[in-house]
Amino acid sequence: MKPILIAPSVLAWDLGDLRGAVQIAEKGGADMVHLDVIDGHFAPNITFGAGTVKALRKLTSLKFDTHLMISEPTRYVENFIDAGSDVLTFHAEVLSGREFDDLYSKVSARGKKLGLAIRPSTDLPAWAEERLEKIDSLIVMTVNPGFSGQLMDMSVMPKLQRISGLAEGYETNIEIDGGVEPENVGEVVRMGGNSLVAGAGVYGKADPVAAVNDLRARALEARSEN
Ligand code: DX5
Ligand code: ZN
Repeated sequence: MKPILIAPSVLAWDLGDLRGAVQIAEKGGADMVHLDVIDGHFAPNITFGAGTVKALRKLTSLKFDTHLMISEPTRYVENFIDAGSDVLTFHAEVLSGREFDDLYSKVSARGKKLGLAIRPSTDLPAWAEERLEKIDSLIVMTVNPGFSGQLMDMSVMPKLQRISGLAEGYETNIEIDGGVEPENVGEVVRMGGNSLVAGAGVYGKADPVAAVNDLRARALEARSEN
């Protein structure tokens, strides 16, 4: 069975205090830190780039789950590897199978893992279905990329269930990104999600450290009911 992984998304914290965001993730026993890189072109927001990832790298040994919401991933992939990303996730909407293969070579040559993300309205492309063994993390987005704090789009659940089924025989983590909260994390896990990104669901809570533990406990509970 795939592990339950919790990945707090620092975008939901005060961006002037990313050190604090990382410390909260550590104290909560998170499995990784989710870093949302947005270029203002692929999605309507501009966040931070490889320089910030590099600065954060000095602060923690937690894995960096770098979600690249950028239109030209091939152009920047090496920068994010150099900066210390552990998993580099690219969006399927801006890739062909051939470009994916090229990115996979670059990432795996440096001992890093590759992720693939899809927007709520995007189905998993056929070329990606054929390459599941190369995908460490498949991000099924449950909000439109751009901002933290949006409500989860529950209409994505049937797609999530289908994709989790497809990935069952592979080690691919099924990562849910967007609006994950204590109230819906159980449903997400029942639909096959095992890796849970949470921005507001962690950093928006009065006690963010406890929120990490709470999400994990609820996710594990939903699984034990199965
Ligand atoms: C949205 C980002 C998400 C976001 C999650 O574009 O990819 O990772 O920060 O934040 P919440 O959990 O608040 O929806
Ligand atoms: Zn994200």
